[in-house]
Amino acid sequence: MSRLIIVSNRVAPISEGGPAAGGLAVGVYDALKETGGMWFGWSGDVLASGQPQIQLEERGPVTFATIGLVRRDYDQYYRGFSNATLWPAFHYRADLIQYDRHDFEGYRRVNAWLAQQLVPLLRDDDVIWVHDYHLIPFAQALRAAGVKNRIGFFLHIPFPASQVLLAVPPHRQLVEALCSFDLLGFQTEPDLRAFCDYVVHEAAGECEHPAKNGSSTIRAFGRTLRAAAYPIGVYPDEIAQLAKAGARGKPVRTMKATLHGRKLIMSVDRLDYSKGLVERFRAFERLLDQVPAMRNNVSFVQIAPPTRADMHAYQDIRLQLEGESGRINGRFAELDWTPIRYIHRQYERQVLAALFRESHVGYVTPLRDGMNLVAKEYVSAQDPDDPGVLVLSRFAGAAQELEGALIVNPIDIDGMAEALATALAMPVAERRARYRDMIGRLRENNVSVWRDNFLRDLKRSGEARPAARAK
Ligand code: ADP
Ligand code: G6P
Repeated sequence: MSRLIIVSNRVAPISEGGPAAGGLAVGVYDALKETGGMWFGWSGDVLASGQPQIQLEERGPVTFATIGLVRRDYDQYYRGFSNATLWPAFHYRADLIQYDRHDFEGYRRVNAWLAQQLVPLLRDDDVIWVHDYHLIPFAQALRAAGVKNRIGFFLHIPFPASQVLLAVPPHRQLVEALCSFDLLGFQTEPDLRAFCDYVVHEAAGECEHPAKNGSSTIRAFGRTLRAAAYPIGVYPDEIAQLAKAGARGKPVRTMKATLHGRKLIMSVDRLDYSKGLVERFRAFERLLDQVPAMRNNVSFVQIAPPTRADMHAYQDIRLQLEGESGRINGRFAELDWTPIRYIHRQYERQVLAALFRESHVGYVTPLRDGMNLVAKEYVSAQDPDDPGVLVLSRFAGAAQELEGALIVNPIDIDGMAEALATALAMPVAERRARYRDMIGRLRENNVSVWRDNFLRDLKRSGEARPAARAK
């Protein structure tokens, strides 16, 4: 069996107190711990001086190969082009896109450098699976270094509509770079359609969809490759076990005691402007405004660990949320009740899962999100006999699958307030029916299915290739 090489900017597991968790690290870690293999990427260190060296560390069946970035590379590749240009563009925030040609050069330079670091570690029959927007030019860079192995790419975030992508000056180079992979994976069908729309209308290419299930064939920039939607999943039964065990633990019992029987609305997100937190806070305020019976009868816990905290857009959203939570609490709080508990720290998975299980509503309302694993974790953690209700943005990839959620538009404050009221009052029979529908989908499409489907198609995409040799 060929060895699996995962390449991503962020490498898990992420220790407590480290950077905020994210769906990529969580999902890929779950997928790789079963198959074993190597995980190559950034160590998270930024070096003030000296030459970064690869660190190898074996943990169980996985070899972690990580390397630091020098300050200039971090600024241009990570903070600059990846997170100030691509992240807002791919999340439909054209207003936040910043572009600097030198950052794009840095982005390509770091991709080429990372590829050169990986080459000596590769074996002939390794299968290489590259993840996310930081590494779009990675296949081009590996090919330029002589690598002939199969190389797949999975985009964890949305793929934007062409008119938004066109706002990124080197859009054509990016799509051409994507076409150097053998297989492209997107979170949802709409993302795949957006990619095909660009290929057909902006790059004079072709996109041939299969008659039934299966991947599409893309012909563009002189290459033929495959592309399909592979929605990332979770391990629902493992999360349910964690939630049950965590509910008996001290942090959750103590928190529950402070509720004094009030209902609980729960949200967990990295503190990112794509997550719709301001609108979410305002919709909770609207609920308290319009349904006085809710006051002092419901608590909203928002856990939001800061992320990319050295970037202006993230400092701005943080300030805005501090203002909003203070304003709303000042307006409604009583001596024995704080409406919004707004918390900036990370928690163990077990604690989060247990908090999900104890809550009546999972409130997940991003303005745009590739998938949103929190939505899937919330459903997984529920007690089947007395499940909570998921209120979910239609702009999260998860909304394509989780039809049992109350689906909302995250900019419709009144609509979200109504959905919260409906969720808090929903009879148990309806909650159970919705939960059964969603948990069934999550079990069918768990994270192994995501991995296995992608790798099966990646191996097939290479069937017509001559025997692969690294170098
Ligand atoms: P994104 O990838 O944009 O961060 P997702 O919802 O897909 O969004 O994934 C976030 C992941 O990070 C989830 O697995 C979630 O449980 C985890 N996570 C988010 N916040 C925290 C936190 N405060 N402590 C621990 N894990 C967290
Ligand atoms: C999202 C992205 C990931 C990223 C994560 C955390 O999940 O899709 O690629 O790792 O956010 O962001 P960070 O910048 O801390 O890696």
